[in-house]
Amino acid sequence: MSKSLSIIGCGYVGCVTGTCFADMGHEVTLVDIDPSRVYSINEGHSPIYESGLEDLIKENRKRICATTDLRTAVNNTDITFIAVGTPSNVDGSINLTYVFNACKEIGEILREKDSFHVIIVKSTVFPGTTDTQVRQILEEHSGKKAGIDFGLGANPEFLREGNAVQDFLSPDRVVIGADDPRTANVIRDIYAPLNPQIFTTSIRTAEIIKYTSNAFLATKISFANEIGNLCKTLGVDSKDVFDGVGMDSRISPAFFRTGIGFGGSCFPKDVCALLSGARDCGEKLNVLNAVIATNEAQPLRLLGLLKRHLPNLKGKTIGILGLAFKPDTDDIRESRAIPVVSSLCSEGAEVIAYDPAAMDNFRHIFPHITYTSSASSVLEADAVLILTEWKEFEYLDYSGKIVIDGRRIEAARNHATIYEGVCW
Ligand code: NAD
Ligand code: UDX
Repeated sequence: MSKSLSIIGCGYVGCVTGTCFADMGHEVTLVDIDPSRVYSINEGHSPIYESGLEDLIKENRKRICATTDLRTAVNNTDITFIAVGTPSNVDGSINLTYVFNACKEIGEILREKDSFHVIIVKSTVFPGTTDTQVRQILEEHSGKKAGIDFGLGANPEFLREGNAVQDFLSPDRVVIGADDPRTANVIRDIYAPLNPQIFTTSIRTAEIIKYTSNAFLATKISFANEIGNLCKTLGVDSKDVFDGVGMDSRISPAFFRTGIGFGGSCFPKDVCALLSGARDCGEKLNVLNAVIATNEAQPLRLLGLLKRHLPNLKGKTIGILGLAFKPDTDDIRESRAIPVVSSLCSEGAEVIAYDPAAMDNFRHIFPHITYTSSASSVLEADAVLILTEWKEFEYLDYSGKIVIDGRRIEAARNHATIYEGVCW
């Protein structure tokens, strides 16, 4: 049955969640403090770069409206998802300001609302946040009791950028955290049109499932990269190794692509938040400390390989192919291109960069490097570094070039005159 939902936050998660819920037949009000995001959605445009999202917004315009007015949105709906950002503080701990601010406002509105409203935290928060702090803020500001006067749940999100719509509409599982059966049923009904595999548990367990999933995938990547570094020294191709290892059904081949490590808005932030939260609980997560250390070192190995061929980078032009943290996104948050470009600049190299989607975002943090509108002009440089595996890089002519490859582009591997892969 169709539900009336409000989603607080129109970023990657809020916008995709709201649009997909509308596509499933629900009436959706999207809320953001950023009026440009709201305007964009109401005009039928996606406020974020995400394949297929704009078409889906247009197809479901009847059931989607966006606003900056949180009060009206919550008042006019029965269920509210909180999907605001939870960025890192400088010490790696999680910044919950946006979540708490949204909860204060929601609490005030619940004070005047008679019907049973359900609030669901979709943002990634440290285990224990929702059933303690979030609950306390909502109860204090509404004067009501969670589980009795209003519902409170956690429903972490597992979508990947670049594949977000598909991931949302065909999830491996939906994790529902609720400490009362009425709330669990409400969340289950919302997802019913997808007929997904559902895992229902407590709020706190749902929160830690999210962190553990991201931390495990990040661990797989750093582990693969360490073995990949050893493979390089031994003259072995790490791709062959992980193709062989991944055939074991207990292991799975996913997330074994070796290279310059993981970036993005989730893995680095969530692993650091887990480490920081565990430390506060008096627990030491040694494996995850190593995962981060390996990930920090990995992009710099690329520079070591470059110097085998160009020992002095001062005054040399170095071409960069790819700035986004992965292909099919314009997102550069924690991109491995950031430490690479930073090191090149500090060694006096002239950097010329190309990315099909992420150059505008990169320009904000590196305004002084040269950006070019074609991948082929990057190949004019003294050497080329490949940092993101965009499909179009498979179709360039690498003959006569020095290429140091952090993402395994076969065309470069087969045709560059001098070629180094970071783990192969
Ligand atoms: P984002 O930064 O892209 O978007 C957050 C949005 O919330 C922004 O548009 C901001 O203006 C808005 N906002 C902040 N405070 C608000 C308020 N009080 N009222 C209304 N709007 C408000 O963040 P994101 O990438 O969508 O991530 C959201 C959460 O989901 C985070 O906790 C993140 O860790 C988690 N998550 C992200 C992904 C991903 O791939 N990006 C995947 C799974 C989970
Ligand atoms: C990730 C999780 O996959 C998703 O479930 C969660 O909701 C959000 O965080 P995302 O950050 O969008 O999604 O991208 P993902 O495809 O997981 O890649 C993350 C980083 O890991 C990228 O920098 C990518 O290049 C790197 N990666 C991924 C590898 O280096 N090797 C791999 O095998 C896979």
